Amino acid sequence: NRHLISAGDLTKDDALLILDTAEELARVSERSIKKLPTLRGRTVVNLFFEDSTRTRISFEAAAKRLSADVINFSAKGSSVSKGESLKDTALTLEAMGADAVVIRHGSSGAPHRLATWVRGSVVNAGDGTHEHPTQALLDAFSMRRRLGGLDGRRITIVGDVLHSRVARSNVLLLATLGADVTLVAPPTLLPVSVGSWPCEVSYDLDAALPKSDAVMMLRVQKERMNAAYFPSEREYSRRYGLDRDRFAKMPDEAIVMHPGPMNRGMEIAAEVADSPRSTIVEQVANGVTIRMAVLYLLLGGETVA
Ligand code: CP
Repeated sequence: NRHLISAGDLTKDDALLILDTAEELARVSERSIKKLPTLRGRTVVNLFFEDSTRTRISFEAAAKRLSADVINFSAKGSSVSKGESLKDTALTLEAMGADAVVIRHGSSGAPHRLATWVRGSVVNAGDGTHEHPTQALLDAFSMRRRLGGLDGRRITIVGDVLHSRVARSNVLLLATLGADVTLVAPPTLLPVSVGSWPCEVSYDLDAALPKSDAVMMLRVQKERMNAAYFPSEREYSRRYGLDRDRFAKMPDEAIVMHPGPMNRGMEIAAEVADSPRSTIVEQVANGVTIRMAVLYLLLGGETVA
């Protein structure tokens, strides 16, 4: 593949190649080799039209650890404010020699459009409510490391699925990797298309928790709530929040995940987020490794070690 736009585009072999390459890169980092010469002379452009902390910084760190040149573009403060289109912005960046463009955009489908305009590889870093494939890959990598494998593992994804590109990408990738996924959400925060997704749906978090190997809490996306019916924060937290009592219902070895940023005290209690069974900080660290693997494979680096 030349681009990474949807987790649904990845075959099981593609996904395993990325996870195994990330594992190899993690082993290299553990040997205190911080920087590899693999992508020397290549240019990676981070094109961010929406805010980001983890994704933008980790793509930058990943590209730099592979010795690529990095150009960070943020729509705020650019000529986008003067009305310049995505296409003209992309062609301007390509003229500066981008070998890969990492794009986050508020519109679902923007990375797909971009791929028709530029010669370099396009990596989707989150498009609207559609997909966030590198998040799903880093989540799968984190689960595989903690749980020892994904085949037959029971993964519960909880919360604002309607607005979550993380949920869609995770469901698609985890199904490809052989995991059993259950979505738990209020009926008003599920997309109408969920019936065609490769997963189960439940409205009862307390019933799902004892049967879970991993529980992934989603952020309630207040900025995208618009017309969706949303109960009060208190009511949401009471029915769908992972607090101490609910955490106690999970099997002893089960892990808690969250892609970040979190609404602490709402979808997840602070003491659960900070517990040793939470992988939230690991997920961030694994994000750099996964994005190194993706850039390495797309840009055709030489040997890893
Ligand atoms: N998980 C995630 O995409 O976080 P950011 O929005 O901070 O990149």
